[in-house]
Amino acid sequence: MTVSLTRKDEFALLTLNRPEALNALSFDILRRIGAAFDEVASWRDVRGLLITGAGDKAFCAGADIKELRQRELMNQKRGAELGQAVFARLDRLRVPSLALVNGYAFGGGAELALACTFRLASPNAVFGLPEIKLGLIPGYGGTQRLPRLIGEGRALEMILTARSVKAEEAERIGLVNAVAEGDLLEAGLAFARRFSGYSLPALEFARRAVQRAGDTTLVEGLQVEADLSTLAYRTRDAEEGMAAFEERRKPEFTDG
Ligand code: CAA
Repeated sequence: MTVSLTRKDEFALLTLNRPEALNALSFDILRRIGAAFDEVASWRDVRGLLITGAGDKAFCAGADIKELRQRELMNQKRGAELGQAVFARLDRLRVPSLALVNGYAFGGGAELALACTFRLASPNAVFGLPEIKLGLIPGYGGTQRLPRLIGEGRALEMILTARSVKAEEAERIGLVNAVAEGDLLEAGLAFARRFSGYSLPALEFARRAVQRAGDTTLVEGLQVEADLSTLAYRTRDAEEGMAAFEERRKPEFTDG
């Protein structure tokens, strides 16, 4: 299977499994990733989605260049729209997502990592948007998500010069949340457990509010925050969280 979806404790684990091509994204793999996201959405008891690549060399080396060459212009546009639509589904998942970047994350691979809520890198991770070397530009969201994450100047440098960024620098500029020494999956599970015990509705409202920060004015963004924080306030979990604080005990959230 080129894409495998399994359970790892309270999390879903999606593995891109085409190591012989550095987990490059064919159309078929993109569709399978989309189907896997749909499946994760139907698993009501998972607390997060972890995404990684098979093998120790690459998370994902981007769109399948051999396949790209054969696409006609209309198919190319549909391909970009498909990639964008599939990755955008991560925003709509009820649970946060975490890219475990175990090697090269180039082109569409970097864009998949960028679409996740969080990114954790192994020390040998390398990020790049090298499309310019192919006479192309990023097409699965990179021109939009990268500047939002690391700023326009740094994003332009990566996209226009194809300069790749290693793990340590990626952490310094905010491209990844952390570099993990040791086993990346174990580090990913530990990272995910830092949020997975909180109320899912609160996590979702917070993600939605932060996402809007990148694409709206401050005035509108503050309105979104006021609306979503009010919704959070009305949940049973908020009642439980505040009661637990007063009673000096650990809250028991029920995602309601
Ligand atoms: N598409 C298809 N096949 C790929 C691939 C890709 N993006 N990246 C690597 N492969 C294949 C190679 O063709 C090779 O297969 P063969 O042995 O059958 O020839 C195998 O994976 C191993 O790759 P290399 O021998 O090249 O490995 P390396 O260690 O020498 O180099 C690398 C690693 C620097 C990542 C190099 O493979 C590379 O530059 N890959 C292309 C990266 C790239 O340009 N990505 C952007 C694609 S376009 C895109 O993604 C557009 C978008 O926005 C969606």
